[in-house]
Amino acid sequence: MISFVNVDLELNKKPIFRNLNLTVQSGELVYIVGKSGSGKTTLLKSLYMEIQPKKGEIQIAGYNSRTIRKRQIPHLRRKLGIVFQDFRLLEDRNVYDNLAFVLKVTGTKEKLIKEKIAHALQSVGLEHAAKQMPMNLSGGEQQRVAIARAIVREPLVILADEPTGNLDPDTSIEILEYLKRINQKGITTLIGTHDYELVRHSPSRTLQISDMTLAESCLIESETGYRPARATDIKTAAEAM
Ligand SMILES: Nc1ncnc2c1ncn2[C@@H]1O[C@H](COP(=O)(O)OP(=O)(O)OP(=O)(O)O)[C@@H](O)[C@H]1O
Ligand SMILES: [Mg+2]
Repeated sequence: MISFVNVDLELNKKPIFRNLNLTVQSGELVYIVGKSGSGKTTLLKSLYMEIQPKKGEIQIAGYNSRTIRKRQIPHLRRKLGIVFQDFRLLEDRNVYDNLAFVLKVTGTKEKLIKEKIAHALQSVGLEHAAKQMPMNLSGGEQQRVAIARAIVREPLVILADEPTGNLDPDTSIEILEYLKRINQKGITTLIGTHDYELVRHSPSRTLQISDMTLAESCLIESETGYRPARATDIKTAAEAM
């Protein structure tokens, strides 16, 4: 479903990832964690092909970064649902029209649009909010609309970049629960986050960015909360035995 093979990613000649190798199976829920500036957004952007690898290749949803043509990128993105920290809803139209917009682009028929929107809004518990304007909704509700917009085209993959970054802890958990429910329907889900509490709440495969690469990780309880395990933790644990 998703693979990185010997991938180097650069931004304005600055190396961000070196020799990245990763496979994500269909239907997985994967957290990408790492401190600010480590490359979470860059990694997700490479998956929707806003950034091309300097070296190696990325495969996602049947497309390959080496062979994809520029005009095919919108087709790839139709198979992906992308969720951002700042929601990115169209402020001048209501919830229904925010969702209809992405369906009309691909020429979906009016009757089908109605059905798909009703279903997507129901998936995030907002079936009664279709007529609301985004600015009259809370942050959590706006993010639920953004999630509904991401799933309304029935994507193969959800890419969420700090989806809870602007929300309080309880609302963050609520958003995560909606993403999990969507994942349980079989949609591969990647969540970039630096909120380790979120990961602790719903543990799943976690990839830690460090030294310009990704490593499988687990979380360790520390005095300041949860943080990813380090090589020294393993040494300490081994010594304790
Ligand atoms: N246009 C750019 N040109 C050069 N370097 C950039 C550019 N955009 C971002 N960077 C750098 O790339 C690195 C990775 O940035 P990225 O936004 O992917 O990190 P992040 O993990 O998403 O951070 P955050 O948690 O703050 O969102 C950072 O060091 C950043 O300064
Ligand atoms: Mg980021």
